[in-house]
Amino acid sequence: MDNVLTAEHLRLTLGQRQLIDDVSLTLNYGEMVALIGPNGAGKSTLLRLLTGFLVPSQGQCYLAGKPLSQWTSTALSRSRAMMLQQTLLRFDWPVEEIVAMGRAPWGPKRMCDIVHEIMMLTGCETLFGRRYSTLSGGEQQRAQLARSLAQLWHNGAPEGWLFLDEPTSALDLYHQQHLLRLLKTLTAGRALHVCVVLHDLNLAALWADRILLLHKGKLVAQGAPQQVLQAEAIAKWYGAEVCVAAHPGSKTPHVFLSP
Ligand SMILES: Nc1ncnc2c1ncn2[C@@H]1O[C@H](COP(=O)(O)OP(=O)(O)OP(=O)(O)O)[C@@H](O)[C@H]1O
Ligand SMILES: [Mg+2]
Repeated sequence: MDNVLTAEHLRLTLGQRQLIDDVSLTLNYGEMVALIGPNGAGKSTLLRLLTGFLVPSQGQCYLAGKPLSQWTSTALSRSRAMMLQQTLLRFDWPVEEIVAMGRAPWGPKRMCDIVHEIMMLTGCETLFGRRYSTLSGGEQQRAQLARSLAQLWHNGAPEGWLFLDEPTSALDLYHQQHLLRLLKTLTAGRALHVCVVLHDLNLAALWADRILLLHKGKLVAQGAPQQVLQAEAIAKWYGAEVCVAAHPGSKTPHVFLSP
């Protein structure tokens, strides 16, 4: 497995605060990994470290065996993309121009056919010609997914590492299912490898191959959904009262909040 992404003993300290505390992990080829944890646990910060947008105070991330710091910015941009939790854009372009921005690491050619194909794939086909600022929150989120996939598009499909920070937070039920099914299909082809932050534990249970649970900057649990999503563990790490039962269709864990 020469294309795995590994993190070894990552720490990030800002002032007196330890935001990430000795996190080591491996993200495997063709895997769909969900990163979960309470507000402020460090999920967005960890994604920034894994993608090289933040430099750890200690430790190192390796992609395909090479430290992230030794990758050129172009090679890294063609190999990994990140969809942020919130994206504020200063310019108000049509959606297809926003998606085409993802092609920047591949040179000046705009590749209209690729942009068109990705917009169809991500449910953005109705958004052609619309100014980004006029889109609803969920529509903007779909456009950002399309931009991230455009960045990794190579020979007809996305290839590499895709990191998504709460990509379903503004999506309706149909689009949540559409996005997660799409990511699952793309990872099953083993060319795309996904790490996705999710607050909805039931979405993580249905679609993740593996779940990582972060709490106060530490990785406190990891494994298959059945191993991680247990009522006692959720009560312990989230402080929430829940019960967990099997999903009637998939038999994966389903988390119910107690009233
Ligand atoms: N630049 C910064 N300076 C100081 N503290 C920061 C900075 N960035 C993040 N933090 C703090 O680090 C902690 C982790 O933040 P992070 O955004 O990674 O959490 P998160 O797990 O993504 O939370 P959420 O679920 O709310 O998105 C938080 O307590 C946050 O306030
Ligand atoms: Mg976050």
